[in-house]
Amino acid sequence: MAKMKIGILTSGGDSPGMNAAIRAIVNEAIPLQIEILGFIEGYQGLIQGNCQPLDSKIVQPVIRWGGSIIKSSRCAEFLERQGRDRAFKTYQNLNLSGLIVIGGNGTVTGAMEFSQENEINIIGLPGTIDNDISGTDYTIGFDTAVNTAMQAIDKIQDTANTMENLFFVEVMGRHSGEIALMSAIAGGADAALIPEVPTDLDNLIHRLSQELSAGKEGLVVVVAEGDDLGKAIEIAKKTRNKLNITTKVTVLGHTQRGGSPTARDRYLSTLLGAKAVQLIVQGKTQIMIGIKEGKLVEVPFTQASQKESHVQKMFSQGIIRILT
Ligand code: F6P
Repeated sequence: MAKMKIGILTSGGDSPGMNAAIRAIVNEAIPLQIEILGFIEGYQGLIQGNCQPLDSKIVQPVIRWGGSIIKSSRCAEFLERQGRDRAFKTYQNLNLSGLIVIGGNGTVTGAMEFSQENEINIIGLPGTIDNDISGTDYTIGFDTAVNTAMQAIDKIQDTANTMENLFFVEVMGRHSGEIALMSAIAGGADAALIPEVPTDLDNLIHRLSQELSAGKEGLVVVVAEGDDLGKAIEIAKKTRNKLNITTKVTVLGHTQRGGSPTARDRYLSTLLGAKAVQLIVQGKTQIMIGIKEGKLVEVPFTQASQKESHVQKMFSQGIIRILT
């Protein structure tokens, strides 16, 4: 009997832990006599039929590596029906029994459309540093990104306190303030400016000047890149003239997307990867696997493709008493 074959791909912005998920998929598949094909550069590889077989030797060391050994891309062609039709041809030509996709919102939405148009078994894993996918408490890479941001904030706190400057630290999150909020809390910052909550400049200046008057030496404000008041550099300019303090800006940028994944991300990726293979074997499709209150859950693509803000929930439950 022909061996069962599953294709896998990583798509969109990479996130630390994607490699750990790939490794878990391969390791779960091998004892079940399933062949795993890794498509190169996400949906682009699926469209072009560009793939490579993955075995235990290839994936053995990758649990501790950031990035994705099968590369990733934001594939414009897959947004079009024509591109998806070409991708389905690859799926058929290679006689695949299923496809596992790892990525963020765009990846899940693409997978949903693809599976609505074609007879295909497809399972998604939430992989994005932004942690903004509906139906899961955590996404692969979020914990590592927060820790990267927190460690940078810790270092900036040292110089901020010593030189008595006002630091703005810009973290990633075009639409999501989760990295900003969590790293600001963990790093003991003075404020977090996030897209989910409108930023009131006067209020921010008032708060910071109160802290200075109370004798605080050196302040740190964490800014999500998508904050409504602008990027950190603009916000620093706006505050500089009103407070008698030197401002400095640090943009952490893509440092947050790389690096060795934390134990928590490796653990999550491994659970999700193994489960994805099991679901394909069971013939399940159009499902993203998430984690809710410590348990793996099956989230229909129709739900997972909606953006979800945990930040809003934290506010509505009164958990966050305005750091913002
Ligand atoms: O992958 C999510 C993310 O890192 C966002 O936080 C950020 O806004 C965006 O990707 C940056 O994308 P790119 O690397 O394509 O500029």
